[in-house]
Amino acid sequence: MKEKIIQLLNEADDYISGEEISKQLGVSRTAIWKVINRLKEEGYEIESVTRKGYRLLSSPDILNSEELHYNLNTEIIGNKIINFDKLDSTNQQAKKLALEGASNGTVVIAEEQTAGKGRRGKMWVSPPGTGIWMSAILRPSVMPENASMLTLVAGLAVCKAVREITNLEASIKWPNDIVVNGKKICGLLTEMNSEIDFINFVVVGIGINVNIEKFPPELDNIATSLMIEGNQSYQRKKLVKRTLEIFEDYYKKYLATEDLTKIIEEYNEHCINIGRKVRVTGRKQDITGNVKCVTNKGELIVTDQQGEDIVVTSGEVSVRGIYGYV
Ligand code: BTN
Repeated sequence: MKEKIIQLLNEADDYISGEEISKQLGVSRTAIWKVINRLKEEGYEIESVTRKGYRLLSSPDILNSEELHYNLNTEIIGNKIINFDKLDSTNQQAKKLALEGASNGTVVIAEEQTAGKGRRGKMWVSPPGTGIWMSAILRPSVMPENASMLTLVAGLAVCKAVREITNLEASIKWPNDIVVNGKKICGLLTEMNSEIDFINFVVVGIGINVNIEKFPPELDNIATSLMIEGNQSYQRKKLVKRTLEIFEDYYKKYLATEDLTKIIEEYNEHCINIGRKVRVTGRKQDITGNVKCVTNKGELIVTDQQGEDIVVTSGEVSVRGIYGYV
């Protein structure tokens, strides 16, 4: 009912009467009055005028399923959105829900994470009300070895959505960071539950630093936020919706070929690694070289100092000029 009332308030050009809402929803005017009061407590500015009804003056930038579903133009991703004020980690919660049978496309989102997970066991700082901490549960019919490309699919979606909404020059640092002015504004963590030849589910975790004003000193050289880079705050709900919409578009393209064929050109255009010197660590042997491209299988091609092209599928990649690497 709350979702429907928010929708009616949003769609009304002017006042909408309690009677009209109650007729449309088939519930009493008292029930509506109670929901309106709850909405006011949540930060919605709603004017109530006798004999005219209710008028929505402004909505808060809260990430609840009602707000996020309003005008969300997707079929799969976000068809169900489960929101929390506080969670340990949206990836953890998404994995739990997926094991309990949550459907393909379900999105878990939280205002705050108390134990946000980064890659390789790192913590992900996730303060309340200032970022986007969300995880999508996907059940793609693709081979497990092709699932890691989903990180790249989601990364490109975040990059495009950030560019569209903020006009900031966001780029992708392969494989799972989005950077603005050489610092990280988003990290992605993809986890999978599969059998040898069958994916049960994939959880794509997305963390975007939106309106964070300051980072702890140890992260100051590496992390930034859209607010710091753009000198203004941004509406998180708008960014969530565009990210999910673009993600779905690229996800369908990925499903069509089970790889990145249909999006790789765009990916390479936005990938900051291309043409730069990199050092790849965490493999049997470190590699230093120049990045040629990312392939349609999501691999990084690095031309090493002997002129040989090396195919990199994993490892920690330091890019010259990014996060203080010189
Ligand atoms: C990284 O860059 O190390 C990956 C960071 C991923 C953070 C996001 S926030 C939403 C989701 N839930 C988590 O616990 N982690 C991911």
